[in-house]
Amino acid sequence: MYRTHTCGELRLSDVGNQVTLSGWVQRTREMGGMTFVDLRDRYGITQLAFSTEDNEELNQKARKLGREFVIQVKGKVIERSSKNNIIPTGEVEIIVSELNILNSAKTPPFTIENETDGGDELRMKYRYLDIRRKAILDKLRLRNKVSLETRKYLDGVDFMDIETPYLIKSTPEGARDFVVPSRMNQGEFYALPQSPQTFKQLLMVSGIDKYYQIVRCFRDEDLRADRQPEFTQIDCEMSFVEQEDILNTFEGMIKHLFKSCRDVEFKGDFPRMTYADAMEMYGSDKPDIRFGMEFKDMNSVTKDKGFKIFDDAELVLGIVAEDCAIYTRKQLDALTKWVQRPQVGAKGLVYAKYNDDGTFKSSVDKFYSQEDLQEWADLTGAKPGDLMFIMSGDTDKVRSQMSDLRLHMGDELGLRNPNVFKPLWVMDFPLLEWDEEANRFHAMHHPFTSPKAEDIALLETDPGKVRANAYDLAMNGVELGGGSIRIHDKTLQATMLKLLGFTEEEANKQFGFLMDAFEFGAPPHGGIAFGLDRLVATMGGSDSIRDYIAFPKNNSGRDVMIDAPATIDNEQLKELGLLVNLQ
Ligand code: AMO
Repeated sequence: MYRTHTCGELRLSDVGNQVTLSGWVQRTREMGGMTFVDLRDRYGITQLAFSTEDNEELNQKARKLGREFVIQVKGKVIERSSKNNIIPTGEVEIIVSELNILNSAKTPPFTIENETDGGDELRMKYRYLDIRRKAILDKLRLRNKVSLETRKYLDGVDFMDIETPYLIKSTPEGARDFVVPSRMNQGEFYALPQSPQTFKQLLMVSGIDKYYQIVRCFRDEDLRADRQPEFTQIDCEMSFVEQEDILNTFEGMIKHLFKSCRDVEFKGDFPRMTYADAMEMYGSDKPDIRFGMEFKDMNSVTKDKGFKIFDDAELVLGIVAEDCAIYTRKQLDALTKWVQRPQVGAKGLVYAKYNDDGTFKSSVDKFYSQEDLQEWADLTGAKPGDLMFIMSGDTDKVRSQMSDLRLHMGDELGLRNPNVFKPLWVMDFPLLEWDEEANRFHAMHHPFTSPKAEDIALLETDPGKVRANAYDLAMNGVELGGGSIRIHDKTLQATMLKLLGFTEEEANKQFGFLMDAFEFGAPPHGGIAFGLDRLVATMGGSDSIRDYIAFPKNNSGRDVMIDAPATIDNEQLKELGLLVNLQ
């Protein structure tokens, strides 16, 4: 028997017992005639004690143990004289009577402790060692708990877990597909699913009225902290439901997950906001509502004072940073530089300080009098001691730039507490999005999303104005999930595809199977998918989903541990009927 207990298990109540433990050597310390070894496994750390007095030979053997050696020890549990109250096993130690080295280990490339000296790339290359660190292990534990509780909740309300294929045909989520060449059908390719969207709709036609799957999705898109090329969705679909049924079911699921996995209870219903309001107030369709700093339209108080930049702008927007009138010139310059970085793309940043003595000081004093600036303060709600930031430009651009600044100020002022969770349903997304470059409409969500009944007439006259029965769940500035009520009517689906620029032939080629299925009695249906990685990272208080994935890719989409993607040999290429032509 390799072990009678784990390294996280022994307590004072075990004192006097003979035990066997196995694990990894975290570190050894020599103190006079004693040697102490911290033995680690997934469950915790237990201190082992060896002494010259008890057994000189064993003590010498312990002193030769290297970091990360795998060992087995037998010994007696005793009460420690100097207790460590930081770890649960800290009141006891094992007086070792037998030590077996199960495996030696090379010195690891970074220290395997909570605070490590390993940089990101190094830890990614040796991810299997990184996972030995409690900091990472706890994240995977949280993920495991969230998956398990998701299954419990959905099973409890009659959802069926059904797997759908990974080797499919292009899906309609709007990113690029990863493709897989077919050996048996040369010249043809499978696409990996960006989501199981079409399959879950087919399952509704099959009569599976509540489907879910915790499923891997693949999207070839630019990566960010909250985006991986392969990620996991909690993917769900329901039949005979209206939007309200779906929102209630999944609000229930999120509440259950936070209660069971984080002991966080949400009181009352999640707040809701229309997409239009979210964009107007926060410049984002996933606003972080842990703090205020809402946008104020300042057109009425900034125009016609001779300041050309504001006069020419479609929209002048202001926000108030409370108690920030004390910001120095240097701080303000740094913020201006920050918004001018290409990632934000603003031309500049105007500020106006509302000093404690009631006077104003702005970067545009040449154009705006104290009375004008008082008007700004009245409109934005700034009080003495506050600082106003103003930006201007085309509506969409200035909103997005101001949103970046708002979040940055939120971070700078400590208003984005990772242990505070603020969910928000964002509703009534536009059905279509105009693509300037392609000069045509795109489905904002995907082509199967149904328009709002009252907006259907607009499809012919003003498609850009049509709102969809589509909703997202945002939390702390992250889009956790999104879904919609689907079109289940073949004629409406055909109109929609036509609007999106598909010819009948193209539509048939890509979605014929779904349109055919809809002719055999498709029930009214709708669904939602949550990003599991994002959900868990948000719950864990992090912006980055990488740490919550056992084996993630880096920002160039590489797995630096197994070194993928990689070339394949000529034989394999030949079998697939492929010729690589790198220009
Ligand atoms: P959507 O495309 O909004 O909807 O995706 C649902 C959720 O998946 C997460 N997500 C990602 N997470 C990590 N990395 C990525 N690259 C990534 N892309 C998306 C987000 C997002 O909210 N089929 C529809 C759902 C439906 O209509 O039912 C869909 O996939 O958290």
